[in-house]
Amino acid sequence: MRLVLLGAPGSGKGTQATRLKEHLQVPHISTGDLLRAEVAAGSTLGLQAKAVMARGDLVSDDILLGMLEDRLSRPDVASGFILDGYPRNLAQADALGKLLARIGQPMDHAVQLEVDTDKLVDRLAGRAQAEGRADDNPESVRNRLNIYNDQTAPVIDFYRQHGVLKAVHGEGSMDEVFTRILEAIMVGIDVG
Ligand code: AP5
Repeated sequence: MRLVLLGAPGSGKGTQATRLKEHLQVPHISTGDLLRAEVAAGSTLGLQAKAVMARGDLVSDDILLGMLEDRLSRPDVASGFILDGYPRNLAQADALGKLLARIGQPMDHAVQLEVDTDKLVDRLAGRAQAEGRADDNPESVRNRLNIYNDQTAPVIDFYRQHGVLKAVHGEGSMDEVFTRILEAIMVGIDVG
């Protein structure tokens, strides 16, 4: 199965992708994690991305597409993947569609996690205290939320028009949200 997880910063994309990965036995591809690995490694790409990410701005579409092409060329995606953090604007959505058509792996579902802004801010403040992620400070969080509303939210309509959008209520316990996602994509839940 090939699916994209959409949602604002703090909506639970990474949390749910970790669970979906186990359940569906497909790799979790997080562009945020790929970029943070480059930053941690001190690579040229990481050095370019570090300050951009800390501010909460988007890293350039060209860098992201190159990274994604590289990741999707690996054999482990043959059975599918969960994409988290991409696409983040309409240009990326278009590029992803073309890339998937080229490799013959069309998207099955785009799952949108819906969470109120107040709750997003609370969750990210909690993570800032617990983990100290560089872009979880109040100023960067505000910027990330604005960019999501301006640039990423239109991607939701893009997938709605393509008939693959599944909107899921992203509040409640992590287990509750996970169950809702499985129901939305019609994958059986193993209760045994
Ligand atoms: P990225 O890493 O993708 O960050 P993000 O989209 O801002 O998302 P987050 O990781 O903050 O939130 P999430 O939705 O994954 O929620 P999570 O599960 O972690 O991107 C970071 C940066 O990289 C970008 O700002 C940009 O600079 C760059 N970048 C990445 N992709 C790019 C692209 N395509 N183009 C350009 N630039 C790109 O949960 C958040 C918190 O909430 C956690 O503490 C979690 O424990 C908690 N939580 C989760 N679910 C629940 C629940 N149900 N109840 C209570 N708490 C919960």
